[in-house]
Amino acid sequence: MVPKISTLSGYIFEYQKSITNPTGFWANIAETFYWRKKWDQVLTWDFKKADVKWFLNAKLNITENIFERHLFHRGNQTAIIWEPNDPNDATVKLSYFELFDKVNQFALILKQQGIEKGDRVAIYMPMVPELAITMLACARIGAVHSVIFAGFSAQSLADRIIDAGAKLLVTSDGGYRGSKTIPIKQIADEAMESCKCVKTAIVLKRTNEPVTMKPGRDVWWHDLTQQINGTIEAEIMDAEDPLFILYTSGSTGKPKGVVHTIGGYMVYTAYTFRNVFQYGDGDIYFCSADIGWITGHSYLVYGPLLTGATTLIFEGIPTWPDAGRFWEIVDKYQVNQFYTAPTALRSLMAMGMKWLDGKHLTSLKVLGTVGEPINEEAWHWYHDHIGKNRCPIVDTWWQTETGGIMISPLAGIIPTKPSYATLPFMGIRPAIVDQEGNELMGNSVEGNLCIAYPWPGMARTIWGDHERFRETYFSTFQNLYFTGDGVKRDEDGYYRILGRVDDVINVSGHRMGTAEVENAINEHPLVNESAVVGYPHAIKGQGIFAFVVCTEFSTGGEEGVRNSILVGVSKFIGAFARPDKIVFVKGLPKTRSGKIMRRILRNIAEGQYTNFGDTTTLLDPDIVTEIVVAAQKLG
Ligand code: PRX
Repeated sequence: MVPKISTLSGYIFEYQKSITNPTGFWANIAETFYWRKKWDQVLTWDFKKADVKWFLNAKLNITENIFERHLFHRGNQTAIIWEPNDPNDATVKLSYFELFDKVNQFALILKQQGIEKGDRVAIYMPMVPELAITMLACARIGAVHSVIFAGFSAQSLADRIIDAGAKLLVTSDGGYRGSKTIPIKQIADEAMESCKCVKTAIVLKRTNEPVTMKPGRDVWWHDLTQQINGTIEAEIMDAEDPLFILYTSGSTGKPKGVVHTIGGYMVYTAYTFRNVFQYGDGDIYFCSADIGWITGHSYLVYGPLLTGATTLIFEGIPTWPDAGRFWEIVDKYQVNQFYTAPTALRSLMAMGMKWLDGKHLTSLKVLGTVGEPINEEAWHWYHDHIGKNRCPIVDTWWQTETGGIMISPLAGIIPTKPSYATLPFMGIRPAIVDQEGNELMGNSVEGNLCIAYPWPGMARTIWGDHERFRETYFSTFQNLYFTGDGVKRDEDGYYRILGRVDDVINVSGHRMGTAEVENAINEHPLVNESAVVGYPHAIKGQGIFAFVVCTEFSTGGEEGVRNSILVGVSKFIGAFARPDKIVFVKGLPKTRSGKIMRRILRNIAEGQYTNFGDTTTLLDPDIVTEIVVAAQKLG
């Protein structure tokens, strides 16, 4: 297992070491893994070209580091606990041996279906063990997985499948989310109509909903698993071969296929997992994130399994059958580490204390949050009522692109401060820069958060578009990786994330580009144009406020268009991207060069209707007054 730091002085010492001699530091951590061939060189990098490589020419298979490395001494230990949506349904527990068998079996199936090293496999599934099995089976044979969150619409799914050129899709008949049944196969069918690249769809039976199986393309998971069994030699991969693609949003409308490679991602996720959560042998670890997002990839599947941990996958939602579900699960399995999103905490907090009645929560040792800033009220509620003032909270800041946790306390080691992600992880060199790119040194400074040196878990490229990768992350500030976040370093040197400084909004931990939502709204035939901004929302963190220009309305009037915009956004992106507020306006505040002044729209969305600062560059300053009137009417 990777080493665990256990004291504050240990952290300070290791951090210093990792900064003064990063390659020596990471080589030592990497030594604890199983490589078919060690690296010739630890790191080469050039931020100007966005070119970073770790563990050059090393050969390995990540699944050998999950299975072969652990089977001898923990084969019978539970690897995955699966808690179904319905608490009355049976739990599934898979030991490392059992998981190994299932991964091998599915790897053989993928091979039999013609999947080779380097091929892309798309995965569109609910939160079931088979999702993790599919990912690991891909990794076993060197195929690149691309998991698409099951809340995405057919259109979004199709866009991602096509961009990656996936040959095969693994999906299910349906999925459960609380009291709802989601017609997953039906959505996948619609998507596949426009995806010529997909030759095969493997369909897991989960809900028994009737589905249409297209002959020659669709096959049942259970039919295949009945036919095939056995083990398969792990494909020997280069450390810099891609492990997966995960799509995320940016400032432009087109989602980016973030690519992570095998060696560095493996070392980084395992080492961060063990140290941030202070995972110890025998602990039960529960991360409530969906595997469709990076948190699920790094800290539900890869990080924990590489550490030989027991990881709990929950199929359902925190509020069903009631708002005590998380805490019931914690007690049922005696969970030791619990990792969730601030938005979930805020919604549970709003539902009152009665859902904690009869819950003991005594097994908990460490609490974590991720995905968005946590406000102090939610932090205290979590600390006092869930952690009972005994459990450190690790507020972990990181991104899809960083692969793993970047700024965070190490549980119980780095003293916490509500709403602060605290201090950088080993090997991470944060740099705070002003708009001109000058680094702001010392404490008590605020600016753009950049990272000045590569780390093993960082993304290597955007699938099929390296130039976009370079431009997005490495061109804003010279020789720095730009995160897109604002940050403050306080008088103690602690980091507090202030939120995005670009056109990305974070709704309930779902990251979205404003342009993506605008594109979906603009598809409406009566919409001329639109502008979307985020505004503070008590539960979701940020809500979506859409300013929409329509020159005429159909018979349903404003309400009719509003409803059909909501339907359209669900269709083009997914229900989670639906605007919370839509206001119809005659025009948008634009400069003479045609740029929308979003600052003004953000102020209006926040309920600030005066003091817009300098508006002299606006083409038509009167439009602002009209927008204010319309927004005030909406309330
Ligand atoms: O703005 C930051 C916010 O989430 C963004 C990354 O989103 P995504 O790639 O979807 O990954 C989310 C899970 C790692 C960041 O740019 N963010 C993430 N964690 C925190 C956070 N904001 C404040 N505090 C955090 N702990």
